[in-house]
Amino acid sequence: MALSVSGLSAVRSGRIVLHDTTLQFSPAERVGLVGASGSGKSTLGHALVDALRARGERVAFVPQSPDDALDPLRSMDFHWQEAERALDLSHDRARREALFAALAIGHGDLCKRPWGWSRGMQQRFVIALALIGSPVLIVLDEPTSALDPVVAADTMDLLDNTLDGTDTAALLITHDLGLAARRVERLLVMDGGRVVEDAPTAQLLAHPQSQAAVSLAAHRSWVSLPC
Ligand SMILES: Nc1ncnc2c1ncn2[C@@H]1O[C@H](COP(=O)(O)OP(=O)(O)OP(=O)(O)O)[C@@H](O)[C@H]1O
Ligand SMILES: [Mg+2]
Repeated sequence: MALSVSGLSAVRSGRIVLHDTTLQFSPAERVGLVGASGSGKSTLGHALVDALRARGERVAFVPQSPDDALDPLRSMDFHWQEAERALDLSHDRARREALFAALAIGHGDLCKRPWGWSRGMQQRFVIALALIGSPVLIVLDEPTSALDPVVAADTMDLLDNTLDGTDTAALLITHDLGLAARRVERLLVMDGGRVVEDAPTAQLLAHPQSQAAVSLAAHRSWVSLPC
């Protein structure tokens, strides 16, 4: 069943930074949210997660940096157990091993703290944490921009493979149209706190309508990037 949310908006310091917005996702749909810095992408992502959680939907959020998700004083095993507890899930070693294998972190030592893992492994662990409860939607806010391009591309490939065959929809927030274009079937373009365009990826790249989409599509240096 499609997931639909309306009435998303936000005011910061007395200024409307997100105008009344409605979003819809089909099961398993991959959607990109692109726009210039400050256009309101993260604000919309947070408003979406808050609204869906308020009505009891299982929604996961992956921040830009694993530092925002992991406590440096706690072991990876502690984080995993905390996530299971938070979702009222009993400990399931097979589920963990399947997610770790899918995200290529099966070799990670769970007794170590986050800084004992590489950044790429940490971010893949955060993605595994996000998927632990089979969410209806995973929102990823610039999930690979803190990683080098090769690790970023590998991480996105692993995420795609892990989501394949599930009903989890994904919203990939990025200022990088190139990254989004390779990964999603539909693109939303934000400008000035509004979604100004919502179109299938190929159509938007070929025939951008809004000024914001035209500007993004005009910067085609992304064609040769690995991710
Ligand atoms: N706590 C805050 N107080 C005041 N203004 C804020 C606050 N948080 C965000 N804003 C403003 O809201 C607008 C949208 O910010 P937001 O972080 O959602 O943009 P973004 O598209 O995610 O940008 P970026 O690509 O840089 O992450 C910006 O103009 C920003 O300055
Ligand atoms: Mg942002």
